[in-house]
Amino acid sequence: MANIEAILSRMTLEEKIGQLMQYNASVFLDTSAEITGPMAQFGLSEADLGRLGSVLNFASADEMKQMQDMHLAKDPNKIPMLFMMDVIHGYRTIYPIPLGLSCSFDPELAKNCSRMAAREAGASGVQVTFTPMVDYARDPRWGRVMECCGEDPMLSGDLGAAQVEGFQGDNLKKPENLAACVKHFAGYGGAEAGRDYNLVERSERELREYFLPAYKACIDAGVELLMPSFNSLNGIPSVANPWLMQKILKEEWNYQGLVISDYNALGELLVHGIAADEKQAAKLAFENGCDIEMCSSTYLHHLKELVEEGAVSEEQIDAAVGRVLELKDRMGLFEDPYHGADQQKAESLYLCPEHRRIAREAAEQSAVLLKNNGLLPLDEKLNRLAVIGPFAREQGIIGSWSCCGRDEDSVSVAQGIRDLLPDAKITVAPGCGCRWDDRDTSGFAEAVEAAKNAQAVILCLGEPQSYSGEGNCRTDIRLPGMQLELARAVIEANPNTAVVLFHGRPLDIHELDEIAPAILSMWFPGSEGGSAAANLLFGRANPCGKLAMTFPRSVGQCPIYYNHPNTGRPHWTAEARQQHYASDYIDCGTLPLYSFGHGLSYSEFSYSDMEVSAPVMTAEEPIQVSVSLRNRSSRPGKEVVQLYMRDPVASVVRPVQQLIGYQKIAFGPNEEKQVRFTVTEEMLRFWNFEGQHVSEPGTIELMIGYADHFCTRATVELK
Ligand code: GLC
Repeated sequence: MANIEAILSRMTLEEKIGQLMQYNASVFLDTSAEITGPMAQFGLSEADLGRLGSVLNFASADEMKQMQDMHLAKDPNKIPMLFMMDVIHGYRTIYPIPLGLSCSFDPELAKNCSRMAAREAGASGVQVTFTPMVDYARDPRWGRVMECCGEDPMLSGDLGAAQVEGFQGDNLKKPENLAACVKHFAGYGGAEAGRDYNLVERSERELREYFLPAYKACIDAGVELLMPSFNSLNGIPSVANPWLMQKILKEEWNYQGLVISDYNALGELLVHGIAADEKQAAKLAFENGCDIEMCSSTYLHHLKELVEEGAVSEEQIDAAVGRVLELKDRMGLFEDPYHGADQQKAESLYLCPEHRRIAREAAEQSAVLLKNNGLLPLDEKLNRLAVIGPFAREQGIIGSWSCCGRDEDSVSVAQGIRDLLPDAKITVAPGCGCRWDDRDTSGFAEAVEAAKNAQAVILCLGEPQSYSGEGNCRTDIRLPGMQLELARAVIEANPNTAVVLFHGRPLDIHELDEIAPAILSMWFPGSEGGSAAANLLFGRANPCGKLAMTFPRSVGQCPIYYNHPNTGRPHWTAEARQQHYASDYIDCGTLPLYSFGHGLSYSEFSYSDMEVSAPVMTAEEPIQVSVSLRNRSSRPGKEVVQLYMRDPVASVVRPVQQLIGYQKIAFGPNEEKQVRFTVTEEMLRFWNFEGQHVSEPGTIELMIGYADHFCTRATVELK
């Protein structure tokens, strides 16, 4: 263990401030561009590089070692740098985008995926990952929904905590364990109009009920770092927001870890207009608890002056630097500045059979069978197949934020089917492009001919992976280009057509839903996407994914989400539809196309005999809810059993349904099982108008099934 106090006592104020600075690795590597390149961009001197606390974005363990050596040669205190990256859903072996993985409803699976990513990233020199992203999101226009864990606070928190545990492991000194960073705190997913970086104006009650719980779950799981979000929250950008960074994070949650800004977020305080200059930006961020400044230089240029003026105390600087040094010490960097990185070992791990298997399993369990009229699973004995559509042989299916992943490493659908059915005659015809401005239909004839001559068609459609992720928002969330027209032509030519969908957000596919016999959502499934799709299409794997985010019928319905309040004019009950004056639209219903929690299986699960262990429950006496499930098919399968609640009368309006429990259960052929949930008073609490987290006596409705589609109900009295 290093003696942090002793190290601090030897450091000058400039050296301490250097520990709070983070820049792109290019400031080290691109020395040829010192005059006009990154160093000049950030106003850095050679001496600054010798004081730098951490860097982000570099390519390998060897590069990391080169930079660490360069730095340590300059650093009078010999303090190793931390090396950070966005290892979001894989390092080189890529698994489904987080929103897709969330549809597995499987925290253990998410943890295993994070473990695999940490092995590859750790060997490659990464010590900190800017993951998990658990921004609560309800609006598919926002490009970063692909990165989040969906529209339910509990599910998001479970999956975020699982990623923290997966990445951090049991001992940060081990090279296969990374420090994790929960982001973006807070409310980023609530940006107005679903537009990235836009303002967020939300009531404190809504923030506490929906937007904050997942971050707290990650902090409770021991996450080492936290990143405030770019957006203004109720008027003040998060990184300088006293309510968020002091009242919630420090006073209420007692968060003791590191806070690192987002990229140039301190510089953006001037653009937001709450700082007149960099000095004021530095003061606002530092006094609100931002320890490390990422890729801007307000601390470098002004923190010393602020200390000399007494606006910031050196004790506060020491506290922030102490948190940085303690993390470095807990990662064992003072003993091994390379953290055990080994590029040769890393290369042996990239895309190895075991990692591909993990990625394939994740892709299979993240896929959601949205519709199936019985066409799927296809018979493996079919030997004349057509794989049509812009994603037929597309390898760009690893999604945004895929770190060092490469499209060319991924298995396309056509390749996946070829690998599965080597003797089948498979005709591939893209038919059209997949960009919004692709109007060319010259490929239709070939596609239609291929469809006519096939026993079955796999029609691969979607949005380009560049249409989601940071800065990639859409106002029109339908299939881009002429894909719907292609689908009409192909399905008319051969009704035995199954659609495979690639997307980073819920899409408006209501017109496709009207004509397609079967639709399998793969999200962006990662390196093994095509293999997983082939296994699912031909029944080698049985779909079990459930939507973690609602699919709207129209972008005009957005934001649309399952856990909404009733309003005084409910819009979806039969009698309400008779009312003209209901909370509805004259040109579109208000029910979604597919609800949160929806997902079909090749098995057939029936629910019965829902029972509650007692009619009354109290804070001291929880109840048991049980239900019997039967797999009425001969096909083994998994079912995500979902338990919802409704509190029909409370001191504030409550959602008409709220997920309070889920269990993913495996069933053998014709197997019946009883599934039990424990319901505690704590699970029924909500944030009331006075800002208290309370439950209130009264009737509680319990429902099992999925949003808007419950197959069994019960009630209990909460005393
Ligand atoms: C980006 C993202 C953040 C990421 C950071 C470093 O702008 O907002 O999620 O971790 O910069 O790449």
